[in-house]
Amino acid sequence: MGSWKGIIDHYRPRLEMDDNAPVISLGEGNTPMILSERLSERTGLEVYLKFEGMNPTGSFKDRGMTMAITKAVANGAKAVVCASTGNTSASAAAYSAKAGILCVVLIPAGNVASGKLAQALVHGAKVVEVRGNFDQAFEITRKLEGPYPIVVVNSTNPHRLLGQKTGAFEICDRLERAPDYHIIPVGNAGNITSYWNGYNEYHADGITDSLPQMFGFQAAGSAPIVLGHPVDQPKTIATAIRIGHPASWDGALRAARESGGEIRSVTDKAILEAYRMIASEGVFAELASSAPVAGLLQLSAQGRLERGKTVVCILTGHGLKDPSWAISGAPKPIQVDAEIDVVAQALGF
Ligand code: F0G
Repeated sequence: MGSWKGIIDHYRPRLEMDDNAPVISLGEGNTPMILSERLSERTGLEVYLKFEGMNPTGSFKDRGMTMAITKAVANGAKAVVCASTGNTSASAAAYSAKAGILCVVLIPAGNVASGKLAQALVHGAKVVEVRGNFDQAFEITRKLEGPYPIVVVNSTNPHRLLGQKTGAFEICDRLERAPDYHIIPVGNAGNITSYWNGYNEYHADGITDSLPQMFGFQAAGSAPIVLGHPVDQPKTIATAIRIGHPASWDGALRAARESGGEIRSVTDKAILEAYRMIASEGVFAELASSAPVAGLLQLSAQGRLERGKTVVCILTGHGLKDPSWAISGAPKPIQVDAEIDVVAQALGF
């Protein structure tokens, strides 16, 4: 779509946007939906990977951030703040830079992938590293709004969730129906909540005639919803979803219950295997984004999914955000002198 101008432009009537508000957009949305032949063959389903890493800042957060920053600017805000495991802060920093307002980000010290930190810094955000985890940073962030002249742009901001439901619209527009199964990573649980809202909206308006079963996957060491209680010391290599007190807990449970799906967990080992598997098929998604693929394999191995059905896995962020995991598990490059014969010999010709 050559004339794509972002999700507000494309889905405006569904986003409760004032027609005269200047739109702060970086051209987010309209992300690829890639048919995975290998995963389809392995599971007997038609498996699509919705690659949200192709958004302007490399994650799905841009769908909600264009809304949150557009609304904040329309309401006269001069500063926004978020707590983040990295992607929200990268997106908030970029959209704030575009709007020319101040962005403050609170991140858990030492637990944010280097690419995400680089993004917040390069876009000029004020970066505060909190000695604690995401949940602690988030609690502080929420308390800043009200007493101080700053707008919170975490997914508790209702405009964020409105924007993120456009992912569901795109999937249905592309398939010309709703998928049978939707599989997504769960951290703070805003995204699964938004997708479920989006699918329901299309269904209620008669655009689709069915709803998908929603499966959310947490990392086993950070799985409060699966366990049924908050986790004070969440652990996982998938730092994006290292969250023990999800804000939209109820939304995730509702999506699973109403759709006949489930919130489940996958181990870090399964996440890493899924990460390498999709990379071997040409798709570089970050660790947290590989959780739904690990989840797909788990569900399929347990016979939970009907063969022949259509499934969409949401790959929420780009692998380049955290290249260290890609490099550490791969064979070392061969280094040679700059001579054709030496290169040919090294290649075994
Ligand atoms: N995948 C990625 C790559 C994420 O960055 C996040 C959340 C999720 C999945 C989970 O989405 O929170 O809506 O359930 N990242 C947030 C952040 C918390 O600060 O960037 P969720």
